[in-house]
Amino acid sequence: MNTIGIETSCDETAIAILDDNGKLIANEISSQIAAHARFGGIVPEIAARMHAEIINHLYASALEEAGISGDKLGLIAVTVGPGLVPSLIVGISFARALAAALDKPIIGVNHLQGHLMSNFFIDPPPALPALCLLVSGGHTDLILVRDIGNYEILGRTRDDAAGEAFDKAARLMGIGYPGGPAIQAAALNATGPDVTLPRPMLHDESLDFSFSGLKTAVLNFTKRTEREGGVLPVNELAAGFQNAVTDVLVGKTIRAARQSGVETVLLCGGVAANQLLRQRLAEACEKQGLTFFSPPFELCTDNAAMVARAGLENFSRNLTNPALSPQPNISL
Ligand code: KG4
Ligand code: ZN
Repeated sequence: MNTIGIETSCDETAIAILDDNGKLIANEISSQIAAHARFGGIVPEIAARMHAEIINHLYASALEEAGISGDKLGLIAVTVGPGLVPSLIVGISFARALAAALDKPIIGVNHLQGHLMSNFFIDPPPALPALCLLVSGGHTDLILVRDIGNYEILGRTRDDAAGEAFDKAARLMGIGYPGGPAIQAAALNATGPDVTLPRPMLHDESLDFSFSGLKTAVLNFTKRTEREGGVLPVNELAAGFQNAVTDVLVGKTIRAARQSGVETVLLCGGVAANQLLRQRLAEACEKQGLTFFSPPFELCTDNAAMVARAGLENFSRNLTNPALSPQPNISL
């Protein structure tokens, strides 16, 4: 049975296909980043329109890449949330139409579970229970994964998500959108010492995060530099910011893993594409005797392979939640 995954929750239109064995045989992604960049963030109405314009072509490309025809699809998995409602509606409507035309089952997927499942493309897959750090544009969650479908959130951000903090800090530094890749690239060019920034809540007892103060620290630094007539050391500021975020994420993840007694740590979400975070978390896990997994680079940011994987795993376990309607704020 081939499984098709459909993802339109934000600004990436994506369609992927898994074969009988769950192997990824098509992974089509169309990013709208260029269309939103001049606004410094995602415009929901533009996002929905662009999903609608491209989704049919992307479906045809995915079938071609997989070398199969539509009647060889056995299961349709589609993201139902969290995300932007107008964008979600495009993917859900397309998936419903496809299911009706092919007379095949359809399953709704939580985008957050999708990110988690981006770690399950290797053989053998990670052993559970595991502790997962999910870091994306909208989420910063420490999740105890007891089993597929059995999750407990141990900590989460109290304000900005890690990806959101990267995006806002990059805007303050004037280095573009999305902020994560821009800050990573700028940090690599740093020649002087890092600008020192706070590590919010690193030593706090809870497993929660807070990144808005870090953003304010960047703002204050840029204002002070301007007031004093200096040149903003963008690369050193980017390096300082990336280091501060990484220290907090790594410190809390290791603490959460130790407190919950698991032996496996998973990283996922768009910020998991960050090289420094991947490297530091891998090193910290090794030091603690924890087995560490991070998704292949191309499966960190939004994609439909993870949606297909989550749909297939849930379908085979008879886990048919969530409902097939847009759910902008659904949690794991
Ligand atoms: O998972 P994702 O593609 O979308 C959401 O579900 O939110 O994550 C997008 C976020 C953006 O905030 C982006 O700046 C961040 O992931 N991101 C990165 C990197 N690549 C993407 N953050 C840090 N370093 C990166 N290399
Ligand atoms: Zn995402």
